[in-house]
Amino acid sequence: MKNWVVRESGFQKNYVRKYESIMCQGNGYMGVRAATEEKYERSVRYTLVAGTFDQMESENTTELPNAADTTAVFLKADGIPLELTQENVKDYERSLNLYNGLLQRRFVWEPQKGLRLGFYSERFVSLKERHVLGQRVTIKVLEGNAALELQSGILGGKRYGDPHFTAMQGYAQDGIMQYAEITHESEITFVTSAVAKAWIKNGDGKETVIEMAIQPEKEQVMSSCQVTLEEGQELCLEKLCRVATTRDKDIELENENISKYGRDVLLRYEKEEMQKLWERGYEKTWEGSKEAWKKLWEEKDVKISGDADYDQLAVRFAIYHLTVMAPVHDNRMNIGAKGLSGKGYFGHTFWDTEIYMLPYFVWEDPKSARSLLEYRFLSLDSARKKAQESGYEGAMYPWEAAWITDGDTCPKPHFTQYELHVTADVAYGVYYYYEITHDVDFMRKCGCEIIFETAQFWKSRLEYRPEKDIYEICNVIGPDEFTHEADNNAYTNYLTHLNLKLAIEWKERLEKEFPEDYARLNQKLDLESRVSDWVDRRDKLVLPKANEDNILPQDDTYLTLPEIDLSIYRRGEKKLRVDYPYPTYTRLKVSKQADVMNLFLLLEELFTDEVKRASLAYYEPYCVHESSLSLCAYSMLAADCGEKAKAYELFVGARDIDLSLKKDSDHGIHAASLGGIWQCCVLGFAGVRMCGGKLRIIPNLPDNWDQVTFRLWWRGSWLEVTVTKDDVDVKVLQGPKHVEIITK
Ligand code: BGC
Repeated sequence: MKNWVVRESGFQKNYVRKYESIMCQGNGYMGVRAATEEKYERSVRYTLVAGTFDQMESENTTELPNAADTTAVFLKADGIPLELTQENVKDYERSLNLYNGLLQRRFVWEPQKGLRLGFYSERFVSLKERHVLGQRVTIKVLEGNAALELQSGILGGKRYGDPHFTAMQGYAQDGIMQYAEITHESEITFVTSAVAKAWIKNGDGKETVIEMAIQPEKEQVMSSCQVTLEEGQELCLEKLCRVATTRDKDIELENENISKYGRDVLLRYEKEEMQKLWERGYEKTWEGSKEAWKKLWEEKDVKISGDADYDQLAVRFAIYHLTVMAPVHDNRMNIGAKGLSGKGYFGHTFWDTEIYMLPYFVWEDPKSARSLLEYRFLSLDSARKKAQESGYEGAMYPWEAAWITDGDTCPKPHFTQYELHVTADVAYGVYYYYEITHDVDFMRKCGCEIIFETAQFWKSRLEYRPEKDIYEICNVIGPDEFTHEADNNAYTNYLTHLNLKLAIEWKERLEKEFPEDYARLNQKLDLESRVSDWVDRRDKLVLPKANEDNILPQDDTYLTLPEIDLSIYRRGEKKLRVDYPYPTYTRLKVSKQADVMNLFLLLEELFTDEVKRASLAYYEPYCVHESSLSLCAYSMLAADCGEKAKAYELFVGARDIDLSLKKDSDHGIHAASLGGIWQCCVLGFAGVRMCGGKLRIIPNLPDNWDQVTFRLWWRGSWLEVTVTKDDVDVKVLQGPKHVEIITK
């Protein structure tokens, strides 16, 4: 399996968290960190279920609770609990196979002299059946005789993170273990179910089933067994589990009593489902998931040839994680900044979705992209409320979002008050999706209302300067979170301009082509009287222009800010904010992350190559790339500017954020950066863009890549694109054959 497997070779206690994150499994519904079967102090053991937000009284925001754990297995050999140290373990390897989603672990454990045990485990979270996961463990006696004790089941009780649950209780009936718990504030019932079986396998292959005793308690429900094995014998454990909550749309549809009667009905329903699952068995269930992964890769793989093994692995790693983190089965949910791989940023959604991850979904899986945007549509009332409470009109999206009715969940009021570009980013996401899909139905039902309401927010937020007859946007934080109180941040102003322009254009289009939708929205939003304000703002909004050196100013003052030596911070040896604490760093010429570069990428047709090149050369040395959103954006822009070596060097930096041990991923993978890695490969190096409503493919492959092939959706056609250093080949696999492409 070349370039499909992420490996940990040798047990590395200091990196348990990193590997838990990067080998996280999931299916968009749930994310299960790759915690080892045995427990370690540093471990951050999480099972997160998308959209199940809950707020503790002691906290100032809502977060995803840590559901009961099904993956822990407690093993004792001759009374010694399994705990690996550098001395007692050999031949350790853990791997995540991206091709089929299987996590495997194998090692030799020597608990005491004269006793050696071979340990093997595997786990999957089904990509086919979102509630299902499975696990197998085998312990083989390699040397000596062993009295083994094995325990496995569902662990509630004390777990990592805030205690979000009440009414916790374990149950056991007909060999099925179940555990129910309810979140404090959001009152979501979780039911986790499991069945385990154990058997002994002799050297000659003969098997003897072992009776497992089940013990239901308040904190857990565990099944256990004790056996004595001789050399050559194996103890095998197989377990299938289900996780379900009263927030699940699919279960509610099947059984409407669940939302009415909660726990007991869900327990009953899940017991039946668990029974069916167990009857079907582990092997068939695993096969189903494996098939689903195979199908996904047939459609979504990006195949790179050349001297590029690690790049190949990295783009697959990105696609794998984009798949397991995205709750696209339910449009009331969106992607968190760490996906479902950890509790960093509490599971909240940022502009990361529209600008960094949505492109992957639009080009590869438009149905899912639509679901992510429908989430913003369903959050409109919350965004309206936020606008109103802040003294504005229309809809103001929060900097951080969780459940659709939660409203603003940003725990740092400062950011949510000033980092306004998220509202224009959502509108940009709608524009981007529409231009690539031409999904008019979405625009009529959801997209137009988002665009009208966000435009109206900007109408009320812009500041008029009567002496110059212009509008400005003052006192914001743009994408670069180190620069505060910025006036006329170019990124924010240009995206706002687009937002206003889209509102005007879609108002006209609806009126002409879809009069019924127009009448409905006009009645609701009074478009007739709004439009003249939008036109006025569109025509008079300040759009910063490049200076005589072709540099587009990030905002009104950035270019004149004082400079400091940034070398140690750029090398990542120290954090700038330690030496220059707030607010000092906000008044220096230093950027946390890409800002103007993002603007060039989103609206490339508005800027000349000279401006892009000069600005790239100017800004990059001032950027410490402290945010994982930075390197990928710089890399793509460098690729656009034909600076291949630079583009590749920046890409390698982005690629290594999660995939190397250099950077921290302890509290989850960097979701936006993973979207960015896919973008670097397809939109950056292969040069695919939606540019002013047109498809353009102008490649800039790195020297070590010979060819890259992938599939894309463009307005009803599936295309297969193959890009080499000097050629672009596009096959229409399905749909309308005539596709216009700009290649120069
Ligand atoms: C970045 C933001 C980003 C957030 C979540 C911050 O560190 O500066 O741009 O939205 O992380 O990923």
